[in-house]
Amino acid sequence: MFNLNGKKAIITGGAQGLGFSMVEAFHNAGVEVAIIDISDEMFNISNKLIANEAKVHVVKGDLLDIESLRQSFKEALEKLGGTVNILINSAGLIERKPAFEVSLDSWDRTLALNVTAVFELSRLAGMEMKKQGSGKIINMGSILSVLGGFNAVAYSTSKGAILQLTKSLSNEWAADGIQVNAIAPGYMLTTMNTDLMNDPVRGPQVEARIPAKRWGTPEDVAGVALFLAASASDYVTGTLIPVDGGVLGR
Ligand SMILES: NC(=O)c1ccc[n+]([C@@H]2O[C@H](COP(=O)([O-])OP(=O)(O)OC[C@H]3O[C@@H](n4cnc5c(N)ncnc54)[C@H](O)[C@@H]3O)[C@@H](O)[C@H]2O)c1
Repeated sequence: MFNLNGKKAIITGGAQGLGFSMVEAFHNAGVEVAIIDISDEMFNISNKLIANEAKVHVVKGDLLDIESLRQSFKEALEKLGGTVNILINSAGLIERKPAFEVSLDSWDRTLALNVTAVFELSRLAGMEMKKQGSGKIINMGSILSVLGGFNAVAYSTSKGAILQLTKSLSNEWAADGIQVNAIAPGYMLTTMNTDLMNDPVRGPQVEARIPAKRWGTPEDVAGVALFLAASASDYVTGTLIPVDGGVLGR
């Protein structure tokens, strides 16, 4: 039910943060992984993964550029021998600024990476999965898929869109054996949140809001991603699973 040995996954944004944690967890579970990322950091990843013989491939690409995205997907699929069982859309960006100070360029970049790239990669992987008759697509939402953001208007708009994208693709593809779900991480200990964590006012406010009274770790998210990739979740689709220490329950 939870056996992922021999499965093949594409993980975007796998060079660091939550993406890397999922690369590590899937590798440890015996999954052959192809990472798509823009960062050279991913070329050091194979040194960090020594658990087993499962291969980890890296494809450098810019998911803000749609041609680069398509080429990267093609390369990743080739490296995986033409099969993709799992797609994890983890690459994302955030700019924290009051709405009046957000440039339209920044707005467009945020929506292009956090939404458009997820849509296009999901379609490319979905086409392969439909041929195979099965597949798992896991999108990274956020607690801001549900709550309004504060000084993160483009980001919260993009994560709200991820929730609707996840449900809509699930509606269309569930009958083809493809489950499309999203994870909603809360406040996680990653570089995306370094500024927030170090903010002397907002940092303690955030921690006080979390019922679990601690920030989340990348491993907290990886466990739920493994569940959503395994056959244990074959009847779970079109949903958003919070991994937030209880924040959305308040
Ligand atoms: N960290 C959190 O607290 C948190 C909370 C909720 C949701 N999320 C979501 O989880 C996902 C991962 O977050 P994270 O904290 O690991 O982020 P991160 O910033 O640590 O990592 C993002 C990764 O995406 C890659 N990337 C950025 N732009 C790219 C591009 N144009 N093309 C290809 N790759 C690109 C980066 O190189 C990096 O490896 C994001 O979608 C984020 O919105 C994170």
